[in-house]
Amino acid sequence: MKKLSFFLIFTILLACNKEQVYQNPYLENVSFSIQVNMDLPEYALLKYANNSVLIRNVGIKGVLVFNTGTSYTAFEASDPNHYPSDCSTMQPNQFTCQCPCENNTYSLFTGQLTQGSGQYSLKPYRISRNGQILYISN
Ligand code: FES
Repeated sequence: MKKLSFFLIFTILLACNKEQVYQNPYLENVSFSIQVNMDLPEYALLKYANNSVLIRNVGIKGVLVFNTGTSYTAFEASDPNHYPSDCSTMQPNQFTCQCPCENNTYSLFTGQLTQGSGQYSLKPYRISRNGQILYISN
């Protein structure tokens, strides 16, 4: 009985710690790991709250990075509600991003769709900060 209780508790703890898996038929899962130095001029905006930057040539269409004021978020730049196309790279605008195809708009705080149509939220990537360096990966 003791063994069974231990096994149950262990299983519950494992389930609680598991990251939620993001599933989306439009976006493939691309592995990458990058470091972003906010002391470089192209990323310096990220030192300040409510600013966002698009980092190209990583992920599917790039990564949108946002400073929430208390933490950072990182999302795939490809519109999550359509297959990647020539116009599906979203452009950041402070705390939202917008797709130039049909103007789907998403919150960079939560990844939720705020304007347009579709059932999927932005694809999140892992992000952490150490000093002026952001570590982003999938
Ligand atoms: S691909 Fe973005 S709105 Fe259609």
